Amino acid sequence: MIFITGATGSIGSELCQLLAAEKTEARAMCRKQEQLLRLKDMGHEAILANFDQPDSLQRAMQGCDKLFLLTAPDERHFERERTIIDIAIESGIKQIVRVSTGDANLSSRLAYARSHAEIDHYLRTRPVNWTILRPTGFMQNFIGSSFAISKGSLPHMMHEGQISYIDLRDIALVAKCVLTDEKHHRAIYYLTGAESLTVRAVAELLTAGLDKEVEASTITEAEMRKILSYSGMSAWHKDALIEQFIIGSNGCEIDVTEEVQRITGKLPRSFTQFVNDYKEQFLTPHH
Ligand SMILES: NC(=O)c1ccc[n+]([C@@H]2O[C@H](COP(=O)([O-])OP(=O)(O)OC[C@H]3O[C@@H](n4cnc5c(N)ncnc54)[C@H](OP(=O)(O)O)[C@@H]3O)[C@@H](O)[C@H]2O)c1
Repeated sequence: MIFITGATGSIGSELCQLLAAEKTEARAMCRKQEQLLRLKDMGHEAILANFDQPDSLQRAMQGCDKLFLLTAPDERHFERERTIIDIAIESGIKQIVRVSTGDANLSSRLAYARSHAEIDHYLRTRPVNWTILRPTGFMQNFIGSSFAISKGSLPHMMHEGQISYIDLRDIALVAKCVLTDEKHHRAIYYLTGAESLTVRAVAELLTAGLDKEVEASTITEAEMRKILSYSGMSAWHKDALIEQFIIGSNGCEIDVTEEVQRITGKLPRSFTQFVNDYKEQFLTPHH
């Protein structure tokens, strides 16, 4: 039985659907009563627990032998996931598949790149079969700019820096393959899309896909901070994101790898396909 954390999030809910489609048993974890029904409707077991309440996790994981581990980074990222990993192993979990990040590095200036690397290092020392997924930036991040995009502008501070953006649905597909096939133990996979793109190139693809002129416009750090202040994200997250843009503006995040195709047997989704599939959300954004 696979225990799925982050099951109500972007990657987790996609993974739940993929597992349900092939009738693979999973227990999806959520922290709100109203989320239980939706997960059960997919055909999974669903259970209430909270990352910050170790007892609830211990109870929830009983009887599971695999863990899909995904949490949202903040100041307590390392301590939180270390506790979850310890509880999982004590509860009898034999395999952990965790979502890290492509730029995970202990000496990074970027807070979540450091904490992801710390967790990855910790996991690798534990007596459990592990697989670490290190995706690059998600294509779906651009949905966060959909209001500006619907007005014809894509504000950014990436200059000519490139990222090999990945569609998060491909991360979920890789996770499904890794969770259901034992040949991926003790591996770290760098997951990317099929092409590295500047934000200017992204704007061109949005223009073509939405049939609407979208112009990439370079803004200052102060202007970006102002935009992010409307998003409701924490100061820690805002600072990390700004740092990420500054690092990204200096070059390519990760070169294109072929891991998605090698593991899933399918080509990674292109940015054009992503725009086509999310057209509605770009053209009629909620704000
Ligand atoms: N965005 C990128 O470009 C990028 C690139 C590389 C790596 N990553 C990594 O990918 C991960 C994010 O993936 P995602 O977009 O799928 O995440 P997401 O949509 O933000 O989902 C986060 C999940 O965690 C759950 N959660 C948060 N706090 C919880 C708590 N205290 N107890 C129980 N559940 C809790 C949320 O539940 P609720 O629904 O209740 O909130 C949700 O299911 C992060 O580790 C990030 O660093 C992101």
